[in-house]
Amino acid sequence: MMNMSLTVPYLEFYNGNKMPTFGLGTYSSKSNEVEEAVKYAIDIGYRYIDTSYFLNNEKEVGKAIRGKIEDGTIRREDIFVATKLWNTFHKEEQVIPACIESLKNLGLQYVDLYLIHFPIAFKKGKELFPVNTEGEIQTSDVDYLDTWKGMEECFRKGLVRDIGISNFNSEQITRLLASATIKPVNNQVELNININQKRLIEFCKNNGITVTSYSPLGRPGYNSEIPNFLENRKAQLGVALIPRSLNGSRIKENFVIFDFQLKEDEMKILESIKTGKRIISFEELKDHKYYPFGIPF
Ligand SMILES: NC(=O)c1ccc[n+]([C@@H]2O[C@H](COP(=O)([O-])OP(=O)(O)OC[C@H]3O[C@@H](n4cnc5c(N)ncnc54)[C@H](OP(=O)(O)O)[C@@H]3O)[C@@H](O)[C@H]2O)c1
Repeated sequence: MMNMSLTVPYLEFYNGNKMPTFGLGTYSSKSNEVEEAVKYAIDIGYRYIDTSYFLNNEKEVGKAIRGKIEDGTIRREDIFVATKLWNTFHKEEQVIPACIESLKNLGLQYVDLYLIHFPIAFKKGKELFPVNTEGEIQTSDVDYLDTWKGMEECFRKGLVRDIGISNFNSEQITRLLASATIKPVNNQVELNININQKRLIEFCKNNGITVTSYSPLGRPGYNSEIPNFLENRKAQLGVALIPRSLNGSRIKENFVIFDFQLKEDEMKILESIKTGKRIISFEELKDHKYYPFGIPF
């Protein structure tokens, strides 16, 4: 089996730990698809798998990873596994139990990266999206600074190798950096041709935080109002990418992006076609004090 993992560059965190710049996103609505996709991706050389509690597939992802460790394809230390704390677990004392639950689901002793999925907390409870009788999402005002204290405890206890954030804007990062004991290593945000996050990338870089692009392909076909730019997806912004595919040939096709460089004028063309439109905008939460998408970056 071809193994191209050595050709995938790494991003280095401020603490010297490293993350492959390319991984597999695992969003899926069907069971069993993800297990096969993860196994196949590992076989062809993917060494970074991205999941989250929210996706409800940690068990499948973990089964695939453990299967590939057991059959000798990889060792645990060869694979970078990231998962995320969901919005209903934001109280400081909830974070360690939530992290332990994710580890149990995955069947792993630790994850390489644990992220706060979103800066806004939802009401505590069993539902991923707690709603009232009008169907409105029930948020809470738990401060993500308190959530971060729980994340730091996960790090100190060795449950996770590194901690980071997702969907945080520059003001929220500034506020977090002012109180954090352990700085986040990574911010995972929507980043594609439509929303190229140029200023946020620069801001994160200046603060020693790496950036991962989610929905890097713009989730083609998901929103008919957003142009499909798939043919232009190969950009080189010094960030990590986690395109999701459950289709073998596309898992393979997406991986072959390290043998060329776009020229400056080609990058400018890609930049010029951005629309600023997000796939994930959570507009119904726009009045919440921690809504992250209300400022320019
Ligand atoms: N942190 C967050 O808040 C957050 C939010 C959203 C997503 N994510 C993460 O980011 C990952 C990726 O984002 P995403 O799933 O939203 O969108 P995406 O990766 O931009 O797009 C996925 C879609 O593209 C299709 N696709 C993949 N490769 C293709 C190719 N070469 N040609 C044509 N179509 C192709 C896939 O279909 P097939 O499967 O049929 O190939 C799938 O429908 C997720 O899986 C998740 O892990 C994180």
